[in-house]
Amino acid sequence: MRKDYFKDQVALISGASRGVGFALARKLVEAGAKVVITARTEKRLLDSEAKLKALGGSVVSVVGDVSNWDDAQKMVQAAVDNFGRLDILVNNAGISMRGNFADLSIEVIRQVAETNLMGSIYLSRAAIPFLKSSKGHLVFISSIVGLFGVPGSSIYCASKGALKGLCESLRLELHPLGVHVGIVYLGFTEHDPEKRILRPDGTGSPPDRPAHHSQAYAADLIIRLIEKRKAKVVMTPIGKIGAVVSRLFPGFVERAVLFAQSRNLGIYQRFS
Ligand SMILES: NC(=O)c1ccc[n+]([C@@H]2O[C@H](COP(=O)([O-])OP(=O)(O)OC[C@H]3O[C@@H](n4cnc5c(N)ncnc54)[C@H](OP(=O)(O)O)[C@@H]3O)[C@@H](O)[C@H]2O)c1
Repeated sequence: MRKDYFKDQVALISGASRGVGFALARKLVEAGAKVVITARTEKRLLDSEAKLKALGGSVVSVVGDVSNWDDAQKMVQAAVDNFGRLDILVNNAGISMRGNFADLSIEVIRQVAETNLMGSIYLSRAAIPFLKSSKGHLVFISSIVGLFGVPGSSIYCASKGALKGLCESLRLELHPLGVHVGIVYLGFTEHDPEKRILRPDGTGSPPDRPAHHSQAYAADLIIRLIEKRKAKVVMTPIGKIGAVVSRLFPGFVERAVLFAQSRNLGIYQRFS
C-alpha cells in the first residue's frame, strides 16, 4: 500500500459488516481513511463499526438494503453529511445462490439479481455526482464466474457478468471527468461462519467448498486496483488464464467446464 494514499480519503463500502467488505474497511481505517460501512443486519453492523472504531477509525455505519433506492441514497448521503465528501465507492454487497435455474424460486432470482446488480446500480447512481467532484474511485466487486457462466450459478453469474458491462460503460463515460472506474473478479475466498448461500427455495446453506484465498488478500487486491487506478484485477492464476481463454476460445472453456463437472474435478470447484 502506498504510504498516505488513503489518509483522510472518504470510502463507502457496501456489505462491510463481515467478509471481504469488513477486511477492506479494516485496511482502509488502518491507512487513515474515513469509512462508511453498510449492511442489512443492524447488530452485526454495529459490532463491526465498534471494532473499526477501536482501531482508531472515523467510521459511520448505515443499516439498509442496497437494492432499495432510498436506502442507497441514504448510504451515500451519510458519507457526505459526516465527512463532507466521497472519494471511493466499493460496490461489495453481494449474495450467492446454488441450484439449477429451473428449480429456483422467483424470490431467490429476484434477491440475487436485485442485490448484486440493482444494488450496485443504485449506489453508483447516487454516488457519481460526488465522485465527479472528488475525481474519485468507483469499484465493482465481481467474481471469476462473472467472466464466464458455470452450471448451478445462473443468476449469480448473470448478475456478476452484468457488472462487467456496467463497469466498462461507466469507465468510458466517466474517464473524461477524471473518475476511476474498476472491477475486481474475486475467486473463492475465506468466509465468515455466518455467510449463507441461497438454496433454490430461499433457505441459506453455509459455503461447501474450501476457500483458496484469505479475505485480507482479497482486500489487498481491491486496494491495489484503487491505488493504481487499474481497470480490472482478476484473482488467482487460474482465474487469469480462464479470463483470457474464455475470451479467445469460449467453446474450449465450455467443454472444459462440462468435462470437469462430469468428473467432479477440482478445477471446476476452483471456478465455481
Ligand atoms: N467470498 C467469495 O468466495 C467470493 C467470490 C467471488 C466474489 N465474491 C463477492 O465478494 C463480495 C463479498 O463477498 P463475501 O464472501 O465477503 O460475502 P459475505 O460474507 O456474505 O458478506 C456480504 C455482506 O453484504 C451484506 N449484504 C448482503 N446483501 C445485502 C443487501 N441487499 N444490502 C446491503 N447489504 C447486503 C451482508 O450483510 P447483511 O446480510 O446483514 O446485509 C454482508 O455484510 C460479494 O459481492 C461476493 O459476491 C465473493
